[in-house]
Amino acid sequence: MRSIGFIGMGNMAQALAAGFIDSGLVRGEDIFAYAPHQNKLRANAKRLGFTPVSSLVELLTSGEIIIMACKPYQIEGVLSEIKEKLSGKTLISIAAGWNYEKYHKILNDIPVRIQFVMPNTPAMVGEGVILFEEANSLEASEREEMIKLFSSVGLVEELPSNLMGIGGAVAGCAPAFVDMFMEAYADAAVKYGMPRQTAYRIIAQMVSGSGKLAAETGEHPGVLKDNVCSPGGTTICGVAALEESGFRGACIRSVDAIMNK
Ligand SMILES: NC(=O)c1ccc[n+]([C@@H]2O[C@H](COP(=O)([O-])OP(=O)(O)OC[C@H]3O[C@@H](n4cnc5c(N)ncnc54)[C@H](OP(=O)(O)O)[C@@H]3O)[C@@H](O)[C@H]2O)c1
Repeated sequence: MRSIGFIGMGNMAQALAAGFIDSGLVRGEDIFAYAPHQNKLRANAKRLGFTPVSSLVELLTSGEIIIMACKPYQIEGVLSEIKEKLSGKTLISIAAGWNYEKYHKILNDIPVRIQFVMPNTPAMVGEGVILFEEANSLEASEREEMIKLFSSVGLVEELPSNLMGIGGAVAGCAPAFVDMFMEAYADAAVKYGMPRQTAYRIIAQMVSGSGKLAAETGEHPGVLKDNVCSPGGTTICGVAALEESGFRGACIRSVDAIMNK
């Protein structure tokens, strides 16, 4: 694997760097990162095993694959500083909204190969979803290399540009909704006497197990739900209560809120 340079080493970049190193596909000494707060960067480097650098120029000298991992509003400033130095590099961007077309407009006179990817936070534990925009200018072999690299932190799915927004909503934002769901069920368990930490352990495993069961069997979620609902039983009473509270409508409206922002 070629060397990697992270522009920004915040939450998402740390999850990716840790996963890449763990996978054995790339060594810590071949992962470089720059971030303005150098003390924080060096502390993270010590903890995760990547190599900190003190300027964007140094980063562009060290890394062949550049991963843009600062906040979206910071990118224009960063590009104005390093645009020329991106020549010949592979640029992977994980910033929301910064798709292939947007980069291409700004970097059209620079021979840089561009790919927009959208990871999510479960990548921190190797269980992420990483969306690859179909539009890109990578060479076929390096795109394979990138898909292999990102597969080390989760499931890679390729999507057309017009589906990257909704993909980001259901993969990138929805972990927050699942967290709310888990917290709510833990509150219910506490209400009926269960210690909170026990409730969190049980519910987290229930959510991850239910996801795994759906993914591994490929079974329709409605069938999996039906399998738990015995006639006249308790679960169907809970299903009815959720439907009365507009559960599905609330889920769909949460995505409407993201898409209409
Ligand atoms: N978090 C997610 O769930 C998620 C999911 C998908 C995509 N993303 C994307 O990932 C990117 C980073 O998100 P995050 O949650 O990891 O943010 P974050 O934790 O706030 O990290 C931002 C990083 O950018 C650095 N930075 C700030 N100004 C910079 C500059 N001028 N040049 C270079 N680096 C600079 C910060 O350094 P200092 O700490 O030193 O200031 C920090 O290391 C965003 O574009 C976001 O859209 C995030």
